[in-house]
Order: sequence, then C-alpha cells, then structure tokens
Amino acid sequence: MFGDAIVTSAGDQYSIQVSPGHDADEVDHHGTGEIGPTGRPYREVPDPRPLDRHGPATVIAVCNQKGGVGKTTSTINLGAALAEYGRRVLLVDLDPQGALSAGLGVPHHELEQTVYNLLVPPQVATDEVLMRTRVDGLDLLPSNIDLSAAEIQLVTEVGREQSLARALHPVLDRYDVVLIDCQPSLGLLTVNALACADTVLIPMECEYFSLRGLALLTDTINKVRDRLNPRLDLGGILVTMFDARTLHSREVMARVVEVFGDAVYDTVISRTVRFPETSVAGEPITSWAPRSAGAKAYRALAREVIARNVKGA
Ligand SMILES: Nc1ncnc2c1ncn2[C@@H]1O[C@H](COP(=O)(O)OP(=O)(O)O)[C@@H](O)[C@H]1O
Ligand SMILES: [Mg+2]
Repeated sequence: MFGDAIVTSAGDQYSIQVSPGHDADEVDHHGTGEIGPTGRPYREVPDPRPLDRHGPATVIAVCNQKGGVGKTTSTINLGAALAEYGRRVLLVDLDPQGALSAGLGVPHHELEQTVYNLLVPPQVATDEVLMRTRVDGLDLLPSNIDLSAAEIQLVTEVGREQSLARALHPVLDRYDVVLIDCQPSLGLLTVNALACADTVLIPMECEYFSLRGLALLTDTINKVRDRLNPRLDLGGILVTMFDARTLHSREVMARVVEVFGDAVYDTVISRTVRFPETSVAGEPITSWAPRSAGAKAYRALAREVIARNVKGA
C-alpha cells in the first residue's frame, strides 16, 4: 500500500510522521485548549450521547459550486462516522456523476430507480430507491447520469424547488441525519437541496482561489433563506486538503478564519492519498483504514456536527 504522510500539530510546532499506511496515533483534540490548525484553541465538544430513539432528521446540504473540494469524500466519511456514533444516516446523491454512489461500491450505472425517479414525474415511492450500504446505519439514495435530465425537466413543474423536500419527507422520521451531496453548480438541483436543508456544510479546498467562490455561495444561501427556506443556516466551513507544511495553506486558513470566524470547524482535513484510495475501494475511510488520521478527522468532525448542527444533538 501507499505510505502516508501525516501532519500533526502539537502546540505551535508541526511535526511530520510518515507511517506505512495505518496507525497515525492521534488523540482527540476537542476541548484540550490546544491551538489547532485553524490557529485557534480547540473548542469544547461533548461526547455524542447514545440515542434510544431516532429522528426526525437534521438535513445537511454538503455544498460548494467548485468541483474537487471534498464534497463527496466528506459526505461519505462524515456519514460513516456519524453512523459509528449510533446515528441513523441517509446519504442523498444529488450529483449526476454518481460519485457518492460509486464511492460506496454501488454499481449505479445499472440502477433502474434512482433519485431522478423521485424528482421527475411519474414519481416512485422513496422506499423503492432507498438502499442499504455495507456500513451499518448508513443508507443511500443513489444517482446516475439520468439525473442530468432532471434539471431541465423540472423547470416546467409547479413547486420545482421543493421536489427533493417532497421526496425526503416520508423518510425523515427514520433518520437522525440526512446528508445531501450536491453537484458542483448552483443550479436547480442544488437549490432543491438548500430548500429542504436545515443547515449547509461547505467543504473548502485550502487554496487561494477557493476563497473567491464562497461569496457567491453564501449569497445563494441567503437568497434561498429569504425566498424558500427561512430555517436554513450556514452550518460551517470545513477546510479540506490542508497541508500544514506550506505557508500557502496556513495563509489561506488564516484568511478563512478571519472572514468566517466561528463558522469554521475546528476539525480540518489534511491532504492524504488515503482518500483517493478509498474511492477505488468503494468504502469509507472509517472502515478502510479505521485508525488513519483521515478516519479520526472525520470522527472528530462528526462530534462537532452533532454538537453544533444536529437538532436535539
Ligand atoms: N483530504 C484529501 N486529501 C487528498 N485527496 C482528497 C481529499 N479529499 C478528497 N480527495 C480527493 O480529491 C478528489 C475530489 O474529491 P471529491 O470529494 O470527489 O470532491 P467533490 O465532490 O467536491 O468534487 C477525489 O479524487 C478525492 O479522492
Ligand atoms: Mg462530488
């Protein structure tokens, strides 16, 4: 397997460990008061409490109109980490590329019923599209290229922005969290995700040019809140593909924190080849490399999301 360069921060000193691919021993930093990669002390995050019943779900749209920033990777791995904490999770693939479905090992090209059939008449029942994944507690509404036609077909429908909300409504009581993996655009499919979401998680690649698109994205979120969904809030910005060794990464991070403040999650996802590996393997990093730094980071994010974004935690 590939080697894995993992960057850990200890106080203001950065050290690089190179592991053969498995155990990067990292502790959970939340609440230690230690300075994290965001340049701030880690905030207190309580341990998720065990649940004795499930639902109604908090709906989180994973959204950024830029491609390749870690939306799909974050949807799969945050979803799997939330499931490890005993949450019932539904993942919705809202990208016609179907990368979320493929990343969970689903042969999506061959599927007869997908999210497309939930959105465009004659609609089928949501349960007919719903699939279990290999991860306990993690279900999926898959997509494939059929979905690319939905955007055009929906234009003439009444209530076209609420089509996904209507499809999700019957199953929300069964889940604690619904994560919607959006396509890299701010078109009608993404508006459908924002129209039914409680909160938006924005993965952002730690690159200078990524900052520019965020203004347009927050503008869209504000418009959807005003016109379609008053309860929508900006859940948080997740910095991905961070490399603590480069000045560039640290400068971009400082700027993101300056602009978005507390909205930036303390958890930061480092750049590592283990993520591309997991897409090939068709499973989340939490089961593919459970002790890797990447798996631990998504577990730390899951705890932050439960504490900050999930109704009734
Ligand atoms: N933290 C990371 N470090 C390195 N590569 C990553 C990381 N997160 C995602 N990737 C890889 O980058 C590519 C784009 O990620 P993806 O999650 O598909 O982005 P998006 O859904 O925003 O287009 C994929 O090949 C994925 O495996
Ligand atoms: Mg994607």
